Amino acid sequence: MLNSSSHGSRVLYFPFSRMEMLPGLFILQVLCLVNAYPNGAPTGACEDMLPRHMGILPQSSPAPYTLLSNMRTYRPGTPITVTIMGPAYRGVLLEARTLGGLYALGCWMFPPPDTKLLQCAGHPNRAVTHANTNLKGNSTAYLWMPPDITSPVYFIATVAQQRTVFWVDVRSTILTRG
Ligand SMILES: *[C@@H]1O[C@H](CO)[C@@H](O)[C@H](O)[C@H]1NC(C)=O
Repeated sequence: MLNSSSHGSRVLYFPFSRMEMLPGLFILQVLCLVNAYPNGAPTGACEDMLPRHMGILPQSSPAPYTLLSNMRTYRPGTPITVTIMGPAYRGVLLEARTLGGLYALGCWMFPPPDTKLLQCAGHPNRAVTHANTNLKGNSTAYLWMPPDITSPVYFIATVAQQRTVFWVDVRSTILTRG
């Protein structure tokens, strides 16, 4: 529209025009679905949520972190915002799970600065993790799209202040299906 150069303009124009015509949430769901690869090796850290450096144990003290979500219930297609309250941190691994579930579910979108999506069991966006060791603070917001399920879910994180100082099993409250 603004760009009349021959090659790039079609590519740019198409998604923007679609976004104007379709409800935004539908677009977000499509972003999640098209990224689901059926095959792929499970990534070990997705399941045990432990850093891959051997011999370093998690802190046994209560975690100074709390996971907050902006909703108490979830609906498929409505993204939830999750923040990590507490001291600034350098490392993170964040997932959503059902009660008793051992696997990450749903889909993380638009990872905030200094973070990236993590592939789990072939799905490229099942978890979010740090992209570098820059400090991340409580204004860092993670966006999660619920899948179409009915089970209660919670968010769970491993949060690291330094390479050798981290807490596991930091959990949010439970969100029921709204
Ligand atoms: C968030 O972090 C800022 C900067 O570290 C701090 O001043 C503020 O108190 C924190 N807010 C909450 C609600 O923890």
